[in-house]
Amino acid sequence: MRTLAPFGRRLARVAAVERIGEYALLWAEDAHGPADPRPGQFYMLAAETRWGAGTDERPWLPRAFSFCRVERGRVGFILEDVGPGTRRLAELREGDGLWLTGPLGIGFRPPDAGRPLLAGGGIGVAPILCWSDELGPDARVLLGFRSAGWAHAADLFGGEVVLATDDGSAGRRAYVTELLREELDADPDAIVYACGPPPMLEAVRALCAERDVPAQLAMESGMACGFGACFGCVAPTRNGYVRLCVDGPVVDAAELETALVPGSGH
Ligand SMILES: Cc1cc2nc3c(=O)[nH]c(=O)nc-3n(C[C@H](O)[C@H](O)[C@H](O)COP(=O)(O)OP(=O)(O)OC[C@H]3O[C@@H](n4cnc5c(N)ncnc54)[C@H](O)[C@@H]3O)c2cc1C
Ligand code: FES
Repeated sequence: MRTLAPFGRRLARVAAVERIGEYALLWAEDAHGPADPRPGQFYMLAAETRWGAGTDERPWLPRAFSFCRVERGRVGFILEDVGPGTRRLAELREGDGLWLTGPLGIGFRPPDAGRPLLAGGGIGVAPILCWSDELGPDARVLLGFRSAGWAHAADLFGGEVVLATDDGSAGRRAYVTELLREELDADPDAIVYACGPPPMLEAVRALCAERDVPAQLAMESGMACGFGACFGCVAPTRNGYVRLCVDGPVVDAAELETALVPGSGH
């Protein structure tokens, strides 16, 4: 499922930045972008100013972010501060300029049959949020975070979610993949949608392969361009290499030998 991006990058204004526990939720006024990006698609973002190492130095490349929600002409992104780009984006304030390119890539495909089971790990919660908004209460949402500070992101969901943390400080003490195993025991005809760190996606892939359950995984890799030009985001599949920015980031788990992408930082 793909909504095409307008040509080139466009300048949006930051409408608001909210703290959601350890994450920042950044809202951009995207007046010139499509109102209907598909859950699982992503945008390349860069701050208008102070986007680079300093004067006379080269600017950084934009960074890739799944959108988490679209409402009233605004597109929302959940950011985790893991390095200079995410820190700078999280510092933005209302009225600041934000360069956007997107929506890019292919999003989740709706289920043909079976109850949708959505599994989000950590910052992988972002595309799971808009996908659960779209699927409604039929979808069961399972979320895993490292601890309570990150688990506030679960409060963004309108309906019921099953929550786990690695240390048990919010919800159950478990990995989200353990929740998924239990759900699949109860409903083996489900269809799984997942986003999270590569080790989690690999566990989801292996679990679904073992049980012959269809799964779609929103994957990550280092992305320099976001539109197919640099081949920096390639991932191996059973049919050869794909560029995750144009052939993904959502990939059928059955196409993969592994969800551990070389160069994804894991
Ligand atoms: C399709 C897609 C969707 C994404 N959605 C989100 C999102 O919704 N919210 C969010 O916070 N982040 C998201 N990311 C990850 C985000 O792009 C990176 O965290 C960001 O580029 C890091 O930039 P930085 O300058 O802050 O840190 P860097 O200095 O570039 O990196 C910091 C650390 O993160 C690792 N890293 C960097 N980029 C990636 C990556 N793409 N995958 C795995 N590890 C990486 C590096 O190895 C390093 O350890 C997404 C990435 C992709 C490809
Ligand atoms: S990020 Fe450049 S080809 Fe995918």
